[in-house]
Formats: sequence, structure tokens, C-alpha cells
Amino acid sequence: MRLLSDSIGRKVVMAITGLLMVLFVVGHLLGNLSIFAGPNGINAYAEKLHGLPQVVWATRVVMLTAVALHIVLSIRLTLENRAAKPTAYAVDRRLRVTFAGKNMIWTGLLLGGFIAFHLLHFTVRSVPGLDIVQGLDGHGRFDVFSMVVAAFGHVVTAVVYVVAMAALFLHLSHGIQSTFQSLGLNNAKTMPGFLKFGSVLSVIFLLGYGSIPVAIFFGLIAK
Ligand code: HEM
Repeated sequence: MRLLSDSIGRKVVMAITGLLMVLFVVGHLLGNLSIFAGPNGINAYAEKLHGLPQVVWATRVVMLTAVALHIVLSIRLTLENRAAKPTAYAVDRRLRVTFAGKNMIWTGLLLGGFIAFHLLHFTVRSVPGLDIVQGLDGHGRFDVFSMVVAAFGHVVTAVVYVVAMAALFLHLSHGIQSTFQSLGLNNAKTMPGFLKFGSVLSVIFLLGYGSIPVAIFFGLIAK
């Protein structure tokens, strides 16, 4: 509670919740890439994961809390920054002002909207107006492969996901280095390394996640 009551504390909470989400994004990417191994790759992976309900639910609770805190604090921070005198920007003086940095609130809100849509799409599996393919594969497992392949066969869905991945790229290309700044780890010596780390990781996310709708849309992964 004390952490949330001052602005540095709120930045630390945003950094920690952001890091938790980045960890999830790394794990989720590794799991999703098993789609390139065909139905036996991703369906077996999903079955193993859902065989560990305690892990799944603990992750859901932690991630939902992290996402909620991150969004509420980011809106507050943006409003505070807009109302503040120029000296309030002193904390950020080492960071370059980039397109990604200036638009964090917009790429973040877009990602929030994407996550809500994505949960309805592949977890709840019910989106008004979208036909979501659901069934079991030849081994009696839920057929995640067919669901995802059918989804990205539609141009609008594939484009929505690629645009969201571009927003993820922009958000994290600034967000990861900003995390180190908020945690007080950034200085003249460490900054180039953190900058590079943030850029490399966000490019990996863009190419890794983005490759899935693109490969499916162009028929490189097919039933
Ligand atoms: C091309 C990109 C992506 C694909 C193909 C994809 C695929 C999937 C699939 C198939 C599921 C359902 C898993 C299951 O129930 O067995 C899922 C769940 C989920 N995805 Fe993604 N995902 C993508 C990107 C992302 C990104 C970028 C994020 C976060 C920023 C994300 C966050 C989630 C979350 C939070 C869940 C719910 C996990 C749960 O509680 O069951 N996904 N995704």
C-alpha cells in the first residue's frame, strides 16, 4: 500500500508487474511455437499444461492481478505526467524520447484490448460473429492446432493479431529498458546493455508471435 502511495513506488510496481508479464510472454511464445511441429506439437503441449490445473490457475490469478495493477497505474501516471511541471520529467531524463516512448499509453491500451479479445477468442472460445473451430483430434485431445489454423485463415483475424504484435513490439521496445530505469538499475554504464536487451527481446517477440498468423495465412502451416 505504501508502495502505491508515492509516484516512485508506483513506477516500481509498474516495473515489477511489467516484468511478470514479460516472463509470461516468453513462456507463452515458447509454447505457441510448438504449432510449427504440427498438431502433435501444440495439442500435446496444451494437454500437458491443462493437466496441471494448479499451475494454470495460480498463473491466471497472478497475471490478472499484474495486468489490472499495470493498467490502473499507467493511466494514473499518464494523467499525473500531463498535469505535472517540466521538473517531473527529471526521472526520465536518461531515456531517449522515441515514438515508442511517447505512445506507451496508446500501445498499452491497444494491448489491453487485444488481451480481452484474445481471451474470448482462444480461452473462452466465444466471440459474437466469429466462427471458432472446436473439437478433439485423433488422440482425443482438444484440437488447439485446428482452432488456431482456422482462425488465421481469415485475413481480418490474421491482421488483427499482426497489428497487436506490432503494438507489443513498440510497447516492449521502450518498456523493457524503462523497467530497469524504474528499478534504479540504469546508469551510464549499464544503459547501452539494457537498451540492446530490450530491443533484441522485443524483436524476438515480434518475429516469433508474428510468424504464426503470417505462416498460417500463407499456407505454410496447414491442416
Ligand atoms: C500469434 C500470437 C498468439 C497466439 C497464436 C496465441 C495462442 C493462444 C492460445 C491457443 C491460447 C489458448 C491456450 C489453451 O487454452 O490451451 C492462448 C491463451 C492465452 N494467451 Fe495467447 N497467443 C498469442 C499471443 C499472445 C500474447 C502476445 C499474449 C499476451 C500479451 C497472450 C496472452 C494469452 C493469455 C493471457 C492466455 C490465457 C491463458 C489461460 O489462462 O488459459 N497471447 N493463446
